[in-house]
Amino acid sequence: METEVITIDGPTSSGKNSVGFLLAQKLGYQYIDSGSIYRAGSIFVLRNNISPDSEKVAEVFKNLQIETKTQDHEVRFLVNGEDITDHLHDPEVTKTVPIVAAIGEVREEVKKIQYNLVNSKNTVMTGRDIGSEIFPDAMHKFYLTASVEVRAQRRFKQLVEKDPKVKYEEILKSMEDRDEKDMTREVSPLRIPEDAVVIDNSDLTIEQTVEKMLKYIQSNVIANEVKQSGSG
Ligand code: DC
Repeated sequence: METEVITIDGPTSSGKNSVGFLLAQKLGYQYIDSGSIYRAGSIFVLRNNISPDSEKVAEVFKNLQIETKTQDHEVRFLVNGEDITDHLHDPEVTKTVPIVAAIGEVREEVKKIQYNLVNSKNTVMTGRDIGSEIFPDAMHKFYLTASVEVRAQRRFKQLVEKDPKVKYEEILKSMEDRDEKDMTREVSPLRIPEDAVVIDNSDLTIEQTVEKMLKYIQSNVIANEVKQSGSG
């Protein structure tokens, strides 16, 4: 039986990860955040003192053996058997990952990892190019977004708990910059996949967003069954 992939793309802090994880749980699918694959590779680029724009970066991604497991309501990332989840959002990694993710050969290696991960399991995968480049034939595709102010506010809330000195205005500015970079980069820019359902969740909770998605999935399945019985 062929496995099913549900794709969720969208800008930074659009809630993709929380929504993707909950949707996967409700459906009994595995959840993969593809940003974590780029982040995992970046950890090893840094560890090996490789410059992020060097030709050796793609080699690092070629050697990544990635497995995931769900533990205590979160997905843990194992690389070559080592659990590196707690380092995925280290500031150095966050700085390195956009440079690494803009390299075409790295994206080709990540594509192979993505195909391997969904090989035998139904999957919800989030990212920037999942419905457009990686699984263009997926039956259910979503594009999740929210206003840049709402997304900056969400990030601010997360960060201010760790550092009370962070400023909302600075976060807003850096988010606007990052949107611009993600949408205008030459390799796989962030875009709405042609046949994706767009959900603006500025005024929705995670649960409400997932409910909305489940409704779309159900109606899509029914529409598909009607189409198939009509043609058969
Ligand atoms: O979603 P995130 O912040 O964890 O993503 C980390 C980086 O990886 C970010 O620079 C965008 C990039 N990325 C990408 O280019 N394509 C994806 N499918 C997922 C993430």
